[in-house]
Amino acid sequence: MLEPQEVREETTRQEFPRNKLNDLSGRDWIKFTKSWFVHRPEPRGDRKIRHPASFPESLVKDFVSFFTRKGELVVDPFVGTGSTLVAALETGRSGIGFEIVEKYAEISRERVKDAIAQNGPLEETRKSGSSWAKIVTADSAKLSKVWGENGFPPADYCITSPPYWNQLRKSHMRQKGRVEKGLDTVYSDDPDEIGNIEDYQDFLRALKRTFDEVYKVMRPKGYLTIITNNVFSDGRMFPLAFDTVSTLSQEPFGWTPKDEKVWCQDDKTLLPLGVFNAWVGNRHHQYCLIFRKEG
Ligand SMILES: C[S@@+](CC[C@H](N)C(=O)[O-])C[C@H]1O[C@@H](n2cnc3c(N)ncnc32)[C@H](O)[C@@H]1O
Repeated sequence: MLEPQEVREETTRQEFPRNKLNDLSGRDWIKFTKSWFVHRPEPRGDRKIRHPASFPESLVKDFVSFFTRKGELVVDPFVGTGSTLVAALETGRSGIGFEIVEKYAEISRERVKDAIAQNGPLEETRKSGSSWAKIVTADSAKLSKVWGENGFPPADYCITSPPYWNQLRKSHMRQKGRVEKGLDTVYSDDPDEIGNIEDYQDFLRALKRTFDEVYKVMRPKGYLTIITNNVFSDGRMFPLAFDTVSTLSQEPFGWTPKDEKVWCQDDKTLLPLGVFNAWVGNRHHQYCLIFRKEG
């Protein structure tokens, strides 16, 4: 049994007893239901985050606060540098992250330690239950087996951003910027790392396998949010976000698709794509796809 990293002991207080899902007021609930949002995170001061595609924990905190209550458990099967776990701890939830690349798993562990050290006095965590986080270095295709071996309780919510197929290797213009910032231009050469899958249909099958695993450890009625996008590759669009919805809803372990929220990114640099030649869009939004375990 792995020892989770403990944050604090406090009791959960429910301010809105009629609320069956989260700790929000009706007003905050309604605000979050808008189908798009602009999120412009502060540039990261944390030098530990050496990852080419991390998402901002401020964004994750908004989702975690909507889809869980304090004291509940969040899972991320592609945890990278641990943003989901930091967001979970900072909102008084617990978290379990799976990451196949040891280097990123280690960064996650350091960030979790920092979050534990820094979060005691935060207003939003003071009323929380006992929060903890665990990072497992493993292929998330084995998630339910590892879960069972460690005696983890059922997850209440999953939020994650899987590799956008093999795009990290392919997006040449964005690669230049990553090199300049000293970031990795591939996650790893591990064949089980799904960003290394060349064939698009094989990639979708691998994605389905992982979210089948998440389904097995999720409590009934628990939600899943996947942050992903359609991709433009070899002169055409691959509708990855839309195919993710149809693939994951297939039985067995079919997730019920509920909605998308569009994250509009108005702080990205416009690249000169296809100028004077052909249409190539500057994709400055991401899809946050929302599913629920209802079967
Ligand atoms: C888009 S990144 C996630 C970044 C993360 N949200 C963050 O803020 O740092 C996807 C991650 O999935 C990991 N990954 C790819 N295949 C995996 C697998 N089979 N099992 C576990 N992790 C995997 C990659 O190493 C990468 O760190």
